[in-house]
Amino acid sequence: MKRSILSLLPFLATLTHTASPPALPAWQFNLKAESSGVVAVESVVVSPNFAIFFNRASNDPLQINGHSAWGALFNLKTAEVTALDVATNSFCAGGAFLSNGTMASIGGDELGFPGNPAIKPGNQAIRLFAPCASPTGDGCTVFEDPNLILLEKRWYPSAIRIFDGSLIIVGGMHVESTFNNIDPENSIEFFPRKEQTVRPSPFLVRSLPANLFPRLFALPDGKVFMIANDQSIIYDVETGTETPLPDIPNGVRITNPIDGSAILLPLSPPDFTPEVLVCGGSDIDDRIPAEQLSSQFPASSQCSRITLTPEGITKGWEVDHMLSNRTLHELVHLPNGQILVANGAATGFAGIASVRDPVGNSNADHAVLVPELYTPSAELGGRFSNAGMPSAEIARVYHSSITLTPQGNFLIAGSNPNRESNITGPGVKFPSEFRVQTLDPPYMFVERPKILSTPERLAFDSEVTVPIFLPDFLSHDDAKIQVSLMDLGFSTHGFHAGARLVFMDATISKDKKSLTFVTPPNGRVYPPGPATVFLTVDDVSSEGAWVMMGSGNAPPTLE
Ligand SMILES: *[C@@H]1O[C@H](CO)[C@@H](O)[C@H](O)[C@H]1NC(C)=O
Ligand SMILES: *[C@@H]1O[C@H](CO)[C@@H](O)[C@H](O)[C@H]1NC(C)=O
Ligand SMILES: *[C@@H]1O[C@H](CO)[C@@H](O)[C@H](O)[C@H]1NC(C)=O
Repeated sequence: MKRSILSLLPFLATLTHTASPPALPAWQFNLKAESSGVVAVESVVVSPNFAIFFNRASNDPLQINGHSAWGALFNLKTAEVTALDVATNSFCAGGAFLSNGTMASIGGDELGFPGNPAIKPGNQAIRLFAPCASPTGDGCTVFEDPNLILLEKRWYPSAIRIFDGSLIIVGGMHVESTFNNIDPENSIEFFPRKEQTVRPSPFLVRSLPANLFPRLFALPDGKVFMIANDQSIIYDVETGTETPLPDIPNGVRITNPIDGSAILLPLSPPDFTPEVLVCGGSDIDDRIPAEQLSSQFPASSQCSRITLTPEGITKGWEVDHMLSNRTLHELVHLPNGQILVANGAATGFAGIASVRDPVGNSNADHAVLVPELYTPSAELGGRFSNAGMPSAEIARVYHSSITLTPQGNFLIAGSNPNRESNITGPGVKFPSEFRVQTLDPPYMFVERPKILSTPERLAFDSEVTVPIFLPDFLSHDDAKIQVSLMDLGFSTHGFHAGARLVFMDATISKDKKSLTFVTPPNGRVYPPGPATVFLTVDDVSSEGAWVMMGSGNAPPTLE
């Protein structure tokens, strides 16, 4: 934050040519739409123009085929919503992109909803959304084949894309529960299938009962780092082995229903050393039954960071603190490598009306309205800042979501600690929230660099030159240049599944008209699949260019 504003100072001074201090651009929340149509429990950007929101089959206002919709296509440019025809209940599903650009929504809820006759059980479902370039959304739809299903039933599973472009799918529960994982599916499977049976996971057994939506990260050597409850492992997909790593310090737990958030910090050449940051959650004893817990129990401010190299693992987690206590929040990358912390509550837990003193139906209270920025390269103790950050005004607690858009701002939607769509008037502190906001970084209000065109597909380990436009104030020779290759991820339940930022070595030509960058060496560093390329000059980021990293082949693929 501080850095962004300082870097704009010289520009504003020269542009305005006035003696009085220029008005500095600040971060802003803006109301993007009055209604998301369906509660945005899950949100995922699926093209340069569209995000998808998923909720449960319920009584949401958006209609399709004579019943309430539970999926919607949200136009990022016009803020219009269009109902999606989803057959199965996508409530609390995971999701990620495959190497061929198709988005797969994974698992969901078994139960139907009275008065919504179209519902089919979703806990074994795989919902596919093929790449759809249509600027109007025409013909963009969810496809479900009743024969294409998961090996096991999974509510609250996580899925991410791995080095061969397929999805690893971890954990979940067979049926609905009001709080803990009481009927677990302690296993791992893949889409497309790598074998015809699931792989049992001792780690998931050990991390019961608060191990829902495990936090998963594809490491640059192809292995997968996993966190559930207060435990972590590295999983070797190729040998099927789990290696336990140090627990999160001080008994802090971070998976549902004790939602903290976690993120893979940006990977940089030449070594792409992986570091993971884990923030918030709670140090509650997970053996206490829900009905004895309180919505007023303080969430944790703890952030722990680990470097996933042999030396880093020996050193263990380094402990830091956010400026706030948070649960139900999310960590999201900025194109310049900073991390945004947004949404959530300062006390309580995930879930609906299961603690002894819910607020309305919310197991959490004290919504945290002011986001924070984390600068990974800053000194310990000085990494968090909320200087100049506005207040969201709108509570985003359980069942809220946030994602970076290809436009470069953050789309924030959802929040609903109720069993259905419930906006019953005054006195309801945490209603079903349909308002959609953007959180706009300072660069949204100044002239920005532009990537004028890119090839549709980028090959691994290659040098790519693209035409750019640089505003005058960013055209100086000592400007700081960053080019990021990003997976914008799939947001739900405090976790941004698949989110990834890989920096690429880059140079700008002497005439400032072209940019040359070097793509990641292989699919282990950036699993083959869709990506967005951002150019950031002195912390002013361009809009993102939507590309296919790799061949675009169906998984499994190594190119
Ligand atoms: C976070 O919670 C602790 C109690 O565990 C409390 O002492 C502290 O003041 C809280 N921090 C903030 C920033 O509210
Ligand atoms: C709607 O919200 C009110 C107030 O929070 C709560 O008492 C009621 O149970 C909710 N209804 C449903 C169906 O969630
Ligand atoms: C992408 O691959 C998946 C898995 O093989 C397949 O189900 C899907 O239809 C493919 N998408 C496209 C657009 O071909």
